[in-house]
Amino acid sequence: MGSQYRDVVYRRTTPSVLLLGLMLLSLGADQPSGQHSTDPEYREYYFEQLLDHFNFESYGNKTFHQRFLMSDKFWKQPKGPIFFYTGNEGDVWVFANNSGFLVELAQQQEALLIFAEHRYYGKSLPFGAQSTQHGFMQLLTVEQALADFAVLLQVLRQDLCAQDSPTITFGGSYGGMLSAYMRIKYPHLVAGALAASAPVVAVAGLVDSYQFFRDVTADFYSQSPKCVQAVREAFQEIRNLYLQGAHERISREFGTCQLLSGSEDLTQLFMFARNAFTVLAMMDYPYHTDFLVPLPANPVKVGCDILLNEAQPITGLRMLAGMIYNTSGMEHCYDIYQLYHSCADPTGCGSGSDAQAWDYQACTEINLTFSSNNVSDMFPTLLFTEELREQYCLEKWGVWPRPNWLQTSFGGGDLKGATKIIFSNGDLDPWAGGGIHRNLSESVIAVMIQGGAHHLDLRASHPEDPASVVEARKLEAGLIWEWVKAARNEQQPASQEGQLFLQLQHN
Ligand SMILES: *[C@@H]1O[C@H](CO)[C@@H](O)[C@H](O)[C@H]1NC(C)=O
Ligand SMILES: *[C@@H]1O[C@H](CO)[C@@H](O)[C@H](O)[C@H]1NC(C)=O
Ligand SMILES: *[C@@H]1O[C@H](CO)[C@@H](O)[C@H](O)[C@H]1NC(C)=O
Ligand SMILES: *[C@@H]1O[C@H](CO)[C@@H](O)[C@H](O)[C@H]1NC(C)=O
Ligand SMILES: *[C@@H]1O[C@H](CO)[C@@H](O)[C@H](O)[C@H]1NC(C)=O
Ligand SMILES: *[C@@H]1O[C@H](CO)[C@@H](O)[C@H](O)[C@H]1NC(C)=O
Repeated sequence: MGSQYRDVVYRRTTPSVLLLGLMLLSLGADQPSGQHSTDPEYREYYFEQLLDHFNFESYGNKTFHQRFLMSDKFWKQPKGPIFFYTGNEGDVWVFANNSGFLVELAQQQEALLIFAEHRYYGKSLPFGAQSTQHGFMQLLTVEQALADFAVLLQVLRQDLCAQDSPTITFGGSYGGMLSAYMRIKYPHLVAGALAASAPVVAVAGLVDSYQFFRDVTADFYSQSPKCVQAVREAFQEIRNLYLQGAHERISREFGTCQLLSGSEDLTQLFMFARNAFTVLAMMDYPYHTDFLVPLPANPVKVGCDILLNEAQPITGLRMLAGMIYNTSGMEHCYDIYQLYHSCADPTGCGSGSDAQAWDYQACTEINLTFSSNNVSDMFPTLLFTEELREQYCLEKWGVWPRPNWLQTSFGGGDLKGATKIIFSNGDLDPWAGGGIHRNLSESVIAVMIQGGAHHLDLRASHPEDPASVVEARKLEAGLIWEWVKAARNEQQPASQEGQLFLQLQHN
């Protein structure tokens, strides 16, 4: 794909009539047809997006460049639907590269594919490289991101003469939340949504704070109770050695670069290790993937095998952590502060600029106060309470979280008023417990995927797929097809009415 990207600045002019559309289509026309007919050959564009949708004064007309990817390869103009991926907390290519289901569906349903990058992530930086520093973050909210998507969609539809193309939003995880919220907030633009592994209930602070790590533990337990026992022992031994002052031995057996020199270091080591389990559980796909890190098929099973293969539990823990932190095999030791940055999301923020932006979101609208307790989970007690969150966020960003706002703004789990949203979840995914599990109405549908990890259904079909995800994708495809058809039919009477009106005027 790489050589086919072309950077086009796709400008938004104020009367939103865009001449560039023609250019865009002609660019599409001279594309060599790909050797693999399934390769969508996305091309990269930048849209001149308004900085602040909700304030007419501070930024005036000022804009930034929002990146999006588009492929019209399968699109049947003018009425083929638009499949719009609402980008999440990272480089939009990562999501495009791991959402092959959209491509398969676009082929079947002759859709235009759009992947829009979320502001403050990837290359969509409102204030350039300094965007994610303290003092430049005030325009990072869920509401601004949704407004970006709405404006982009509105302009593209006009520009591509696609007003009659029903749009379905798609997303996974936080992106799944956004796809559902798009349907809720902008139903005139969005005919339906697929929200995969979207923890809409958890982020609104409506599940118990031990759910997440309990469910991570459950994945390992159902793989092997012995594995869970060994993990508990490893953590207990590290703690005992620490209390005995055997810091050198911890460093040698677990492989840390520095000696632990205080309880803060012990906590960091525990969080570092706990996060390896989180990633393995989320990414427990039945085949090799390269999403956040390269992982083998069934990484939970592989992790347990690796761990149980070692005579010493601490060494086993070290080896398991290597699946996440030592994928290159080049880490002589673990720099636990460098390899894991603790932040306002105890399931991990990653690193770099994207991680800063996510930390800020977890400090403002998105409540992720998950704790482990060494009772209902296998991890050491690591609390992240509302008080700790407040303290951290004030210190780091100078902000107070607003724990109730997301629920007020979007309803949390109370989506009785919404229509045409699919909430899919996999039972291996620790995020599933924070999602929607039952059908809320005739068209707000919960799909449960047995043996599915984090938004497995969005990935391309694979021979190792469990039957459940094949079924789930079929159900999703069918509902989306119906919603697109219904949206087209709804347009019909309106235009007939319009004709009638014109005739009446003539008479
Ligand atoms: C805002 O946009 C309008 C329309 O394009 C333009 O006429 C006006 O000068 C702009 N104002 C500022 C402050 O940039
Ligand atoms: C996405 O996939 C393309 C083609 O395989 C690759 O060149 C690119 O590096 C990938 N990008 C990311 C961010 O994964
Ligand atoms: C935040 O989330 C946690 C865990 O989901 C929950 O226990 C807590 O009550 C929430 N806080 C608020 C104010 O919603
Ligand atoms: C977990 O709890 C057990 C039982 O109370 C205790 O023996 C062990 O030391 C605890 N583990 C850690 C890491 O604190
Ligand atoms: C990383 O992997 C290499 C190669 O397997 C190994 O020699 C090294 O000890 C590992 N690092 C850690 C910290 O375990
Ligand atoms: C929700 O409805 C769909 C189809 O309408 C059905 O296939 C599915 O099993 C239902 N889900 C639950 C959790 O009952």
